Amino acid sequence: MANDIAILKVGDKEIELPILTGTAGHPVIDVRALGGKGYFTFDPGFMATGSCESSITFIDGAKGVLLHRGYPIDELARDSDYLEVCHMLLHGHAPTTEEYIQFKDTITRHTLLHEQINMFFHGFRNDAHPMAMLCGTVGAMSSFYHSDLDVNSEDQRLRSAHRLIAKMPTLVAMCYKYNVGQPFVYPRNDLSYAGNFLNMMFSVPAEEYKISPTVERAMDRIFILHADHEQNASTSTVRLAGSSGANPYACIAAGVASLWGPAHGGANEACLEMLEEIGTVDRIPEFIDRAKDKDDSFRLMGFGHRVYKNHDPRATVMRESCHEVLAELKLNDPLLEVAMELERIALSDPYFAEKKLFPNVDFYSGIILKAIGIPTNMFTCIFALSRTVGWISHWHEMLSQPGQKIGRPRQLYTGEGQRKYTPIKR
Ligand code: SDX
Repeated sequence: MANDIAILKVGDKEIELPILTGTAGHPVIDVRALGGKGYFTFDPGFMATGSCESSITFIDGAKGVLLHRGYPIDELARDSDYLEVCHMLLHGHAPTTEEYIQFKDTITRHTLLHEQINMFFHGFRNDAHPMAMLCGTVGAMSSFYHSDLDVNSEDQRLRSAHRLIAKMPTLVAMCYKYNVGQPFVYPRNDLSYAGNFLNMMFSVPAEEYKISPTVERAMDRIFILHADHEQNASTSTVRLAGSSGANPYACIAAGVASLWGPAHGGANEACLEMLEEIGTVDRIPEFIDRAKDKDDSFRLMGFGHRVYKNHDPRATVMRESCHEVLAELKLNDPLLEVAMELERIALSDPYFAEKKLFPNVDFYSGIILKAIGIPTNMFTCIFALSRTVGWISHWHEMLSQPGQKIGRPRQLYTGEGQRKYTPIKR
């Protein structure tokens, strides 16, 4: 809704630009007319750019607020479950009990993968990084569902979304099983979403796997807390890929690739590797000094955030789960001791307060996942599993909007001016 105007004075010209306001958050200056007036905006890293209109998730970085369809993340994490959040994100509203039961049944009945997908894994080295396998196999899924790839059909978009939400746990668990050389475990319809994932990860033919309710709850909470996060790097990647009409599996594979980076979803894996490098509590000050040293590229992984400059609301809830799981599992892993001491020091050090560097969601999720017994190189796969609903909900929202166009940013060109080409003597 435009209710104000920004005036851009350029030389003796004035360019009027509408200011649009949403339900909450920063108003935006609508610069779409600038191209026709001979100017582009310049915003590398999109620090001050609104790329789209969305009603899925709202973040207030200064106040540490995260809402999914208006519901605060801490209330959802405490009182709902991941499939209920999936329904909200994808279908736009909290489900009634009947809608929840139907949605849960739909997802449950899509958890099996085509048997031939197993063959893809045998093309990977058995020590392949799980994210490499996930990237490849998610993209390959489009070769199994030719009949439902019309991105202009709402029904087909939703069917693809249900398939992806349902099959990602199966695929992620297969990446783990392939790494450890154990047989793939089929999904079970009698288990919860999180329980089914834990069973596919840890059960072996030789004995029954007992699911700990605390671990099952912590896993479901990790899924909720990573489900969506507005226009972050991987979600923006999925939107840009989807704007060309690429099929949903290809778009999600692009999101997996973008999430892999250590500055983004790879941070929980990088955080555990950092804790392993620190090794013991007495070495923490050395690494704190390195994090402050401008000439050292070292950063405290799991700390800081591009948007939250106060606290990450997800981290608050994740921290509770972290301490619950550690208490129940009665672990005395030195790594977890280092993590808790690093958290204490960082939260009390004025440097980190001044730079607004606090433990983010990835700091605590990494600790819980390690406590559950999930290997570090699987952490980002679990983040991708959880974020798939956010990615596919944004993809679906974008394609539902009228007048949707292919994304095509421009640039500030600083290369050579036009010059004559002289062919070389061959
Ligand atoms: C996720 O976008 C999302 O929403 C992402 C995510 C999601 O759910 O999708 O929330 C998930 O990606 C969480 C973030 C996980 N990444 C990490 O934990 C990696 C470590 N964190 C940093 O790489 C960094 O904090 C970022 C990338 C997360 C944010 O960087 P910014 O906001 O762009 O800030 P910056 O890099 O410009 O740093 C600002 C200052 C710098 O110092 P100065 O140059 O101003 O002197 O803070 C310093 C940085 O050097 N700094 C750090 C630091 N992070 C920033 N110093 C030490 N350790 C760090 N972790």
